[in-house]
Amino acid sequence: MDHLKQWFDEYTASFLTGVEDNDRNIRLKQEHTHRVCQESLFLADALNLDAKQRDLSEIAALLHDIGRFEQYRRFQTFADDRSVDHARLGHATLKKKGCLDRIAPADKDLIERVVLYHNRAFLPEEESEECLFHTRLLRDADKLDIWYVVTSYYAEMATKRNPTIELGLPDTPGISDKIHASLMNRTVVLKEHMQNLNDFKLLQIGWVFDLNFVPALRRLETRGYLDMIKKALPMDPRIDEIYENIADYMHERMR
Ligand SMILES: [Fe+2]
Repeated sequence: MDHLKQWFDEYTASFLTGVEDNDRNIRLKQEHTHRVCQESLFLADALNLDAKQRDLSEIAALLHDIGRFEQYRRFQTFADDRSVDHARLGHATLKKKGCLDRIAPADKDLIERVVLYHNRAFLPEEESEECLFHTRLLRDADKLDIWYVVTSYYAEMATKRNPTIELGLPDTPGISDKIHASLMNRTVVLKEHMQNLNDFKLLQIGWVFDLNFVPALRRLETRGYLDMIKKALPMDPRIDEIYENIADYMHERMR
């Protein structure tokens, strides 16, 4: 673990250029990674994983966004649809750099596949239970931290804007009908339906329907991220309706 953490720190530091507009986005992903490791360990413990599975969940978290660094260097964006699939790029990076060569081949293979699948809309059904389990755990840990990142950003957005976080979407009024419909149907919002920043905020609250584990739902509720996103949205009865639906959904699942 120490060796891998050191490799991560050195590899990602090589993307710092001394230009603040670049470096703040590199630091954003470095810090995100460290917090996702903590979220993964929280879930691993809440789910009573043994020591080996706990280690695997931490390694997957440490390496899950390794493709983000090369993605940003090449394209200056984190929008996969306008650049490259960062999970594929991360998978290729792990293979090329050989940073997992010190661990057992079966575990190396598992981590590489978890990294490859972590951002997929649909997980491959033919995969092993172990691989799907670790992918689901990582996805929950990842979402918990992305909620932290976006809510921290909304809190300071009035003074510090970062178009990279906003995916370059316009800050226009209103919400999309398709997004309202998918949230009322308790389904995850499709990226292609986003038209403005409000839609992006609604997409973020819709991740609740993609959470796999009850401890992640409890942590989401305790941290109050959904309420913080609501404060960053306009007053709108359709948004209230979505929030009531989500509150019901969370209580049903936690019960
Ligand atoms: Fe990612």
